[in-house]
Amino acid sequence: MRAVTSDDKEAIRSAFQRLSPESRYRRFLSLAETLSDGQLRYLTELDHHDHEALIAYEPETRNGIAVARFVRSPADPRIAEAAVVVGDAWQGKGLGTALSALLAQRAREEGIERFDATLLAGNDQMLHVIDSLGPSRLLAQDGPTITVEVDISHETLPTHMRGVLRAVARGDAELAPRELDDSDN
Ligand SMILES: CC(C)(COP(=O)(O)OP(=O)(O)OC[C@H]1O[C@@H](n2cnc3c(N)ncnc32)[C@H](O)[C@@H]1OP(=O)(O)O)[C@@H](O)C(=O)NCCC(=O)NCCS
Repeated sequence: MRAVTSDDKEAIRSAFQRLSPESRYRRFLSLAETLSDGQLRYLTELDHHDHEALIAYEPETRNGIAVARFVRSPADPRIAEAAVVVGDAWQGKGLGTALSALLAQRAREEGIERFDATLLAGNDQMLHVIDSLGPSRLLAQDGPTITVEVDISHETLPTHMRGVLRAVARGDAELAPRELDDSDN
């Protein structure tokens, strides 16, 4: 995973074309099947301050498989619009959550405290990703789409620790008391 550069136009163009129509629609809320040269310039020529994007590559093929992006709001520098897309074959494996956590880290470094995301109301996977970043709430609903805000100002627990704590809360696991050893004396 690394920041997108202007050399990533071909990687992003082909990753977009490999997306299923449903994933493409969920991410861009549009039925377009290709990205124009202007869109590719917008998506890859970044200042890494007001507009940042992180790309994940498949190790063997070097194909781009996921992108997470924020664009700072012109109205409030503490807020950015965020969006994530993971290639269909890689969805449901934790990549969207991991890339979003890295994006939130980059955003905090740039003084951003809140992400807003616009998505289809039934997009449970994205809602889970948003919840993993911090406290969230519904800002607006417009037909089938919703806008959700999430406070990213505090780093959240790593994903595996949240899983452990949920298992404890459900009673599926117990926290063992730490055993004292000689170094405690
Ligand atoms: C939404 C998206 C980015 C999530 O990325 P992902 O890598 O597939 O998601 P993860 O594997 O990190 O899983 C995220 C959460 O969704 C849950 N999840 C996975 N598959 C799910 C499913 N079919 N239904 C509901 N929840 C699901 C996971 O359990 C996880 O929740 P948890 O962390 O509370 O356990 C990805 O699915 C995607 O690109 N979708 C199409 C584009 C899109 O919708 N973008 C969002 C617009 S802003």
